Formats: sequence, structure tokens, C-alpha cells
Amino acid sequence: MEGDHLKTLTLFGALLLSTPVFAAQLNLELGANSRTWQTEELLKHPQVQTITITNDVSYKRDMSYRAVPVAALLTGIKPADHLQAVALDGFAAELSAAPLLNAKGARAWLAIEDPASPWPALSEGKHSAGPFYLVWTDPQAGNISPEQWPFEVASIKRMAPVAQRFPALLPDPALAADDPVNKGFALFQKNCLACHRLNGAGDAQFGPDLNIPFNPTEYFGEQFLTRYIRDPQSLRQWPQAKMPGFTAAVLPDGDLEMLVGYLKHMAGRKVKP
Ligand code: HEC
Repeated sequence: MEGDHLKTLTLFGALLLSTPVFAAQLNLELGANSRTWQTEELLKHPQVQTITITNDVSYKRDMSYRAVPVAALLTGIKPADHLQAVALDGFAAELSAAPLLNAKGARAWLAIEDPASPWPALSEGKHSAGPFYLVWTDPQAGNISPEQWPFEVASIKRMAPVAQRFPALLPDPALAADDPVNKGFALFQKNCLACHRLNGAGDAQFGPDLNIPFNPTEYFGEQFLTRYIRDPQSLRQWPQAKMPGFTAAVLPDGDLEMLVGYLKHMAGRKVKP
């Protein structure tokens, strides 16, 4: 494998050297506690162990990994902190620190791909979930969503909360905190913001902006929008489609309704670029 990488590097030269695909380096940007970990260092971490994940979210089967508890890497991070895991492909998962710091119940692990025994490709012609992949043991105990399993992770950063960083995502401030639109906003952050911007706000570059120039509630009949979110391929099919479907187990009907309610509300709060 190492040899293959070298060969590929020689073949594609500068192009590949400028991308971090083979760097296998994890950047933890945690303010004063920032540090960079190399794969080899993580594989020698005092808390590294082999864990088994039942029905892994990305591989859709049981997997076992060499892994370190995420909490052991997040020096100085407090439960109220907000983190972002950025993947090589631009996927940016917004993560509350609290569940990542849990020592019981749903527990977060950083799985480390050992170049000596690489993981399988996620699907034909694709990369593996490595070099680093955030996985959970007992995820049901913490109601952990698939978007909280970022793969191909390159860095984990401490950041201000989403609402503070991106005021353009905020619903009307006159709404009560428990208004369904605000609940929909929370669901949007948990499930969609990892891939989509809205009003140009967000860090993801993976899917289209969901308000500019048009909001999907403006051009999808409502039945079709919910159907699309449940199963994008049921509306239009193409092999490159990357949007995952959200089943009722992940996003119950009531939540989906509140999420669409937030999108509809934001159609009336466009920010002109
Ligand atoms: C893993 C990344 C990812 C996540 C998470 C995701 N999407 Fe998408 N979405 C995409 C991509 C990529 C596309 C473009 C079509 C494709 O490749 O499937 C897309 C397309 C769409 C479209 C269609 C836009 C159009 O006009 O064709 C809508 C609507 C949409 N997403 C809404 C959502 C909502 C709502 C959520 C959260 C419940 C969500 N997406 C979560 C990646 C994602």
C-alpha cells in the first residue's frame, strides 16, 4: 500500500502533493491546546484499543478499528464548547462537545486507519473512511445522527457556536426559543449544515445553498421536498448523487416537518449576496 501511494504520487506529482489525501495527519485546533497528530503517534497512544462497531454508519456492516477515545484528544475542551470536524472533501460536521466528552453511554472514538492494514473503500472507486473516522459505540443511547460520524477527517477545530458565526442562518429573533421554527433550525444544524450552506452562510462546500437564489420550498411541491429528503433517489436518479436519505428513524415525521418549516421561514429571510 505504501508503495502504491508512492507510485501514485510520482505519477500525479504536484497535483497530489498539494492535496492532503496521503498526509495522514490530524490537526486539532483547540486554541492553546492545539496540536498535530501523525497516524503513527495515534496508533501508539496510551489509550488506543481495538473496538467493534455494530452496523457502522458508513460501511453499513460490523467493523473493527484501532481507536482512541475522542475525549482523550480534546485537551481543555468543555461540554459547552462547539467543535467542527472538517473532512478532506469539504464536509464540515458541526459537533457539540458534550456528547464527544462522554465516558459512558454513547461514546465517541477516533478510528485510525493503519497504512499497514488499510480499510476497504466506502464504495467502488472511492476512498476509505480514513485516515481518521469518528465512530460511536452505543450511539442509540445518545440519539447520535449519521452526520455525527464524519469520515476522512483532516481536522477538528474549536469554534464559536453556529448561530454566532453565521447570523444569516438565524430565524426571526422575535420567535420564542421553543417555536417550531427554532427547533427546525436546530435540526437543520444537526442534519444538513454539514453539507449545505444557507444564505451563503456555513462552512460546507458539498451540496448547494438552500436559500440563494431559491429556497427548495419555493420550487418543490411540499410532498416532493419531504420525499426528496427521505430518499433523494426516489425523485431523480444519477450515479453521482451524494445526498443521503434521512429515514424516519433518524428524522421522525414531526422533526422533518419542523425542518421544512425552518426552510420555509428562511425563504422570507434571504440575504442578498
Ligand atoms: C452528506 C452531505 C449532505 C447532507 C448531510 C445533506 N445533503 Fe442535501 N444535498 C447534498 C448534495 C451533494 C446535493 C446535490 C445532489 C446530490 O448530489 O445528491 C444535495 C441536494 C439537496 C437538495 C436538492 C437541491 C436541488 O435543487 O436539487 C435539497 C432540497 C437538499 N439537498 C436538502 C437537504 C436537507 C434539508 C438536508 C438535511 C436534512 C440535507 N440536504 C442534507 C448533500 C447533502
